[in-house]
Amino acid sequence: MMAKAEGGKMVCVTGAGGFIGSWVVKELLLRGYAVRGTARDPSSQKNSHLQKLEGAKERLSLNYADVMDFDSLSVAFNGCEGVFHVASPVSVDPRLVPVAVEGTKNVINAAADMGVRRVVFTSTFGAVHMDPNRSHDTVVDESCWSNLEFCKQKDWYCYAKTAAEMVAAEQASKRGIQLVVVLPAMTLGQMLQSTINPSIRHIADFLNGSRKTHRNAVAGYVDARDVARAHALVYEDPKAHGRYLCIATVLHRSELIQMIRELFPQYPITCNKCEDSKQMVQPFKFSNQRLRDLGLTFTPIKESLYNTLICLREKGHLPPYSSL
Ligand SMILES: NC(=O)c1ccc[n+]([C@@H]2O[C@H](COP(=O)([O-])OP(=O)(O)OC[C@H]3O[C@@H](n4cnc5c(N)ncnc54)[C@H](OP(=O)(O)O)[C@@H]3O)[C@@H](O)[C@H]2O)c1
Repeated sequence: MMAKAEGGKMVCVTGAGGFIGSWVVKELLLRGYAVRGTARDPSSQKNSHLQKLEGAKERLSLNYADVMDFDSLSVAFNGCEGVFHVASPVSVDPRLVPVAVEGTKNVINAAADMGVRRVVFTSTFGAVHMDPNRSHDTVVDESCWSNLEFCKQKDWYCYAKTAAEMVAAEQASKRGIQLVVVLPAMTLGQMLQSTINPSIRHIADFLNGSRKTHRNAVAGYVDARDVARAHALVYEDPKAHGRYLCIATVLHRSELIQMIRELFPQYPITCNKCEDSKQMVQPFKFSNQRLRDLGLTFTPIKESLYNTLICLREKGHLPPYSSL
């Protein structure tokens, strides 16, 4: 095993205060690393949760860095042996594509300039499954890539992340950086941060009365703690290379809503009907074997969903029952 943080080896996590970034920081601190996190506003109250993590006082520092500001990245990566590039806009706004793509190019180049050895890039399942020509029988695995033209028509977030992953691979190979990629599905679980992020909003929207119908669609899901462990595992195992699909299960929206109903029976679910009367979309087959081979055990999604719901309620993101 490589780099198990003996002697407090220093790594940097971009987007440290976000949902996945915070879990990656927590996991790395628990494993003994000295962690430098980046945020665009490190002194903001929205990043204060990081200081409460175990080991943070002794081994966590926060730096300003914007992925479009090359110099800020260089300063943040100075002295680090590894970088976890988590930061990215999570948005379908096409104007933010350059932030994801150019930002990733900047990260790889700044890392290479500063002598960083290994970069873990947080891609997404959206860089895998957006392919209109994939047959329903195909087992979705790391060999699958989203089709950029199809993404342009359907989802600019998937476009941005697919293009960013391609740029990361190209630049890393040019600059001699070891690149390993984690591709999480829709990530659920407890939020360490106080603000709500888009994948948790996906769940909250079923409970806040804003939706009356749900889509006839399926999605892949995974627990935030498993995503964080996956980042650490691919970093630490010297044999790890290429892409790692991080997905625990596939659920149709109706199954997800039924699970929420069972876990939270006291809460009225306003979103009861499918938006069309077509045949139910069937789940696709997938493989998470590569991560299981590295030793990752996936958390049952019901547990992740339970933690999401409790956290939404505790942090005040759900309306009182009476207002629904
Ligand atoms: N949650 C999921 O379901 C999921 C699934 C697959 C992949 N991912 C990927 O995981 C990563 C984190 O997403 P998340 O779910 O944790 O969402 P999030 O909480 O919104 O985190 C996004 C992070 O990106 C940072 N960021 C955005 N624009 C930036 C810029 N110009 N420069 C520097 N940092 C910037 C934000 O930093 P500030 O704090 O400075 O705003 C924030 O920390 C993203 O790469 C996303 O594509 C997420």
